[in-house]
Formats: sequence, structure tokens, C-alpha cells
Amino acid sequence: MFDSVHLLAIESSCDDTSAAVLKGDHVLSNIVADQSVHNAYGGVVPELASREHQKHIVPVVDRALAVAETGRKQVHAVAFTEGPGLLGSLLVGASFAKTFAFSLGIPIIGINHMQAHILAHFIYDPKKDVPEFPFLCLTVSGGHTQIVLVEEPLQMTVVGTTKDDAAGEAFDKAAKIMGLGYPGGPVIGRLAAEGDPERFQFATPEVAGFDFSFSGIKTSFLYQLRDATGKDPDFINDNLQDICASYQNHLVTYLLNRLEAAAVHHSVKHIALAGGVSANRELRDRFYKLAERLGMRPHIPKFEFCTDNAAMIGMAAQFKYAEGQFDDLSTTPKARLHL
Ligand code: KG4
Ligand code: ZN
Repeated sequence: MFDSVHLLAIESSCDDTSAAVLKGDHVLSNIVADQSVHNAYGGVVPELASREHQKHIVPVVDRALAVAETGRKQVHAVAFTEGPGLLGSLLVGASFAKTFAFSLGIPIIGINHMQAHILAHFIYDPKKDVPEFPFLCLTVSGGHTQIVLVEEPLQMTVVGTTKDDAAGEAFDKAAKIMGLGYPGGPVIGRLAAEGDPERFQFATPEVAGFDFSFSGIKTSFLYQLRDATGKDPDFINDNLQDICASYQNHLVTYLLNRLEAAAVHHSVKHIALAGGVSANRELRDRFYKLAERLGMRPHIPKFEFCTDNAAMIGMAAQFKYAEGQFDDLSTTPKARLHL
């Protein structure tokens, strides 16, 4: 479809500066510079994030072009994350993309970050087949939790969304409470592997339809730990693995129960997982088991295309390029942007 088109893509919506070069659906390079500066704060500090993006953007793009062995003049268009995300961070990527494109006289393509997480499934991988339309995708990241009905590459409808926190935040905030640093998901995932997933129970919020709410779960987690440490100051340390395993088990069950209900309701044959939280081993394993039980085909992108990366922005941009959907230089990034 778009085999010979070379795109440079930039992602800077949160705390990763990433640049990628794609030739059609083949990723020639995908460079990600993360920002350890936030670790000490238990979450991303927006002001620090945009400063770090400014430091990283030029070397990251240079490296992406070098690894891809692609010269600037070979690039047909520049894609960038238009939103949603942190405005200061988005501005760095958008301004760079515009300047780069203007200097070469090539078009820019603004991309919705959430759409890109889903379209990461279409990045060429000889070991994977792509989802067939229509399919349902559970997108779980540090900023979003959505169940999306994907009818065509550029036609998606949100059928379930979170009313408050995102699934990734539920991991990150619990890790912060336990003093495990940021981001919390990977640490909780590692510790959970050694623990008892049935030992502790947490609240399950009642939310209509296929929507989610995580704030009640987080509060019940906080209160349980606060009460237990009141009686025994070493409670967290002594039970860390069991706490992580039980909490992870609770979140995964909650996410997959909703996905199952939505998948049955929409009678899809394919289900997909996207976003940073899909790196979670327990979620992945049980997602595959769920698909098997429902007789549906499961899809999860390669690990490096699950967390924030520019390759997924480039993949989404290839679909827009094929449709002739370009933006003009007056386009500005948006902190809030719906699918
Ligand atoms: O998609 P992503 O890289 O960035 C956003 O767009 O937010 O997702 C980052 C989120 C963080 O909340 C992080 O804790 C979570 O994904 N995460 C995980 C794991 N790896 C990353 N959550 C649970 N288990 C993991 N293994
Ligand atoms: Zn993301």
C-alpha cells in the first residue's frame, strides 16, 4: 500500500523522546531516550519533561536517521504526536517536526497518540499477523484506559473509558505509596511474580457499561496499607511480594472482565492489547487465555512498540499519508485530543 514512503516520526507526549524512520510498514529505526530525572518524584514533572525533550530531540532524530541509513532528502513527510499529552512536551516535538519539514519543503502529519498505540499492531513483523477489522483494543497506559472498537485504521470509536485515573497510574500510585519509585508498573510486575495473588482483596468499583474507575481501588489499597502499617510498621516490607501480586491480580481481573464483556457485546473475532501496561506479564498471559476461551484471535505488539515510541506514530502516519491527510504548519499540539 505505502511500501516506498519514508517517514520520520517523532513522539514527545510524556517523558520519552523518541524518533523513528519507517519505510512503509517496516521500521528502519526506533530510538527512545527516557528521562530518569522523574524517578525521584514518583511521577512525571511536566516542566522537567519539556526541558529534557529539548536536550534529547536533536541527537535522537540524528540517531534515528543514521541507524535507518536514511538521508534527510529521502524523507517524504514528518509525523509528530499532536496530542493528547503534556503540552510543553508536545510543543517540543511539534516545533521540531515543523522546522524540519519546512526546511525540506515536505508535509507534516499530526497524529493522535491513542490512535497510534492501536495502529502499532500494523507494524510489519514476520512473526505476527495483523488484527482483522472490526476488532476491539484495550489500550492501557500511564495516561489512558480505553476499550476501542476499531472499524478501519482511521475509524475508531471509544466504547469504554476511565472516569478518573488510568490503569498505569493505578500501578504507579501504588508503587509510590510503597516507596518503589517511578514508573511503578515494571517494579510491581517483577515483585508480583514471587507473591500470592489471592492474599489481599481490594474494592471493585461499580461503573456502568464498559467504563472503568480506578480511584476507589487505589483508595482501598491506601487504607489497607495504612491500617496494617499502623499495627506493624514493617508490614509493607515483610509482605511486599504478596501485596504486589494481589494488587496486580485485582487490576488485571478488572481490566479483562470489562474487555470480555465488551468483546462479547460487539461480537468481534479479534481482540488486541496496546499501551505501556500491556508490557505486564500477568496481563499478557491472561489476555491470551481469555482469547482462547472466547474463541477470539489475540494480538499484542512487540514489546518495544507497546510503551511510548515513535514507530507507532510513524505507522499511524503511513495510513494518513496513503489517504493524503496532511496538516499545515499552523497546526498546534493539544493536551486533550479525542479519538
Ligand atoms: O504507554 P506508556 O509508555 O506511556 C503513556 O502513554 O502513559 O505507559 C506507561 C505506563 C506507566 O504507568 C507504567 O507504570 C506502565 O505503563 N507499565 C507497566 C509495566 N510496564 C510499564 N504497568 C504494569 N506492568 C508493567 N510491566
Ligand atoms: Zn502512550
